[in-house]
Amino acid sequence: MPRQSEEDDYYYDNSSSSADAISIAGLSLALSYENAAIDRLEKRLQESIVPEVKQKIKQHLQQTREQQQRLKDRINALGGGEMEPFVEKGRLPIPEPPRSLKMMIESNSSEKEREVWESLNDLINERAEAIMYRGGIQALELLKADKKTIKALQKNLKEEEAFGDWLEKNNPKIARKLMTKQMQDKKQRKKKKRGEPIQEQDKDVEAISATVT
Ligand SMILES: [Fe+2]
Repeated sequence: MPRQSEEDDYYYDNSSSSADAISIAGLSLALSYENAAIDRLEKRLQESIVPEVKQKIKQHLQQTREQQQRLKDRINALGGGEMEPFVEKGRLPIPEPPRSLKMMIESNSSEKEREVWESLNDLINERAEAIMYRGGIQALELLKADKKTIKALQKNLKEEEAFGDWLEKNNPKIARKLMTKQMQDKKQRKKKKRGEPIQEQDKDVEAISATVT
């Protein structure tokens, strides 16, 4: 019956354009977080004191730039080239301690302790990104949204998961290495003060470093 078919067409057009609108909103949201993630990764690349972490951050910074481009390309494709991709930065989901506690931690922490704090924030951030992409993919699948957009999000998700897995596996080893080294340095300084002979650095520290993969 023609009337019914018109209604079907109307329903189909309407629901597909609303899936596109939701996709554009979701892609823009993801882009706003990736825009903020670039800033954080650049800062961490400058500040990290662990060569293995620096190397991984450098690699993920490059991936994040590609992720931004992937999101922008999908926004443009769904908006028919008329959309301006989002340039603003979202707020990263890193825990914010109370001000007084934050000041206390920052003023009393050594460089190595700060590295351990920040490596936890790296992990929280990558896991949060993965959760966001997983939820977004699920929502777009339910809406039967554009397949290329879902594929782009899946590619981003894979990269977030891989970096998150690396951090989860290596953060504890790196923290142990840093804290062991800190304790050794403290001991050496005390010995030096007392005029006692200073020993060579413990070989265990180098061994832990070699286990980072
Ligand atoms: Fe990431």
